[in-house]
Amino acid sequence: MNVAGRVDALADGLAAGGELTDPAWRAALHAVPRHLFVPPVAWADPSDEPGYAIDRERDRSAWCDAAYSDRPIITQLDDGTSDVRGGKGRYSSSLSAPGAVVEFLELLDPYEGDRVLEIGTGSGWTAGLLSHRLGDGNVTSVEIDPEVHERAARNLKEAGRAPRLVLGDGTEGWAEGAPYDRVHVTAGVRDVPYAWVEQTRPGGVIVLPWMPGYEPGHKVRLTVGADGTASGRIAGGARYMMLRAQRPPAASGPGGGGDVREREATVDPRRILRAGYGLDVALAASLPDVSAVVADGDPARVWLWAAGAGAQTVGSRVRQFGDRDLWDEVEAAFFRWLKWGEPERGRFGLTVTSQGQHVWLDDPGRPVTG
Ligand SMILES: C[S@@+](CC[C@H](N)C(=O)[O-])C[C@H]1O[C@@H](n2cnc3c(N)ncnc32)[C@H](O)[C@@H]1O
Repeated sequence: MNVAGRVDALADGLAAGGELTDPAWRAALHAVPRHLFVPPVAWADPSDEPGYAIDRERDRSAWCDAAYSDRPIITQLDDGTSDVRGGKGRYSSSLSAPGAVVEFLELLDPYEGDRVLEIGTGSGWTAGLLSHRLGDGNVTSVEIDPEVHERAARNLKEAGRAPRLVLGDGTEGWAEGAPYDRVHVTAGVRDVPYAWVEQTRPGGVIVLPWMPGYEPGHKVRLTVGADGTASGRIAGGARYMMLRAQRPPAASGPGGGGDVREREATVDPRRILRAGYGLDVALAASLPDVSAVVADGDPARVWLWAAGAGAQTVGSRVRQFGDRDLWDEVEAAFFRWLKWGEPERGRFGLTVTSQGQHVWLDDPGRPVTG
């Protein structure tokens, strides 16, 4: 394989797409070749087309193409209990898509000598890129899954890199190595653990894919203040697999014989669904404990759920059950968002304190609540 040529072609594509602007990251892509982090057998997920198994022994050319395409490669399903070659199950570990990796690294923007904590080692590629830029001794990466952790150690060794790898629950950060100048989270986060703020030096930065209950999620860049809070704006979109402890509960339908309230929607649900990411953030702020999916890709069918309550839309009809009327709450949040002038997602931000987190609009002093 002409690795240098493949890396250049990938980097040119990322540069053309605006994800890669810093020549130092292009150099890192060459120094830490991605194919060293692709397992012999895995599942390529182009997301805009059906996924497919890759197998280095059977079809080396397809395996190499996947390694140097801007696509995530799924390396584990269902925490290792399902065969990755089938592609069916919950994605639980991956080698993230190069575009997403580089965009996040540029958002992280570490300086020479910075100490970085990564949450979610996965394949180890991101830790390797960081180690190349900052030196092995300045990078710590935490992974919760023992097998994934061990495989990452082998991959990194082959790439000639040796960051500190920690097997543990990244929601606790890694206090032994604190304080960090940068914290880079590579698994989806619903509630930002305060440990990450505590372990970051004042003025330091935390980047994370914020994945509240409404897909897809958002990139967030928080700066830690002298007062022990972290605050920052939403910086675009992101879609990642969730931190293990923050996976949403499974959606549930109405309980046996439970009371189901049915009505005509006040606003066509499709109008709400197509309103854009700004509304998604407003909904996440107002209904932080609610999750939603579009059923079977059909925008007329939405499922919403939270502990003890659920709602479904079918066309213009709404069915609500449990101890809350979730669709009523969505419509109320929608009308509030209209009143604010339909703000885009970049006008929202997130603040994390020792008491929890809240979303704000335009200014950290203007919290958005239900
Ligand atoms: C999208 S992958 C990370 C990709 C990786 N950074 C790379 O460069 O290949 C997310 C990883 O986070 C891990 N993870 C999930 N919950 C975690 C937790 N609580 N602490 C540490 N790692 C976690 C998963 O096991 C998975 O390997």
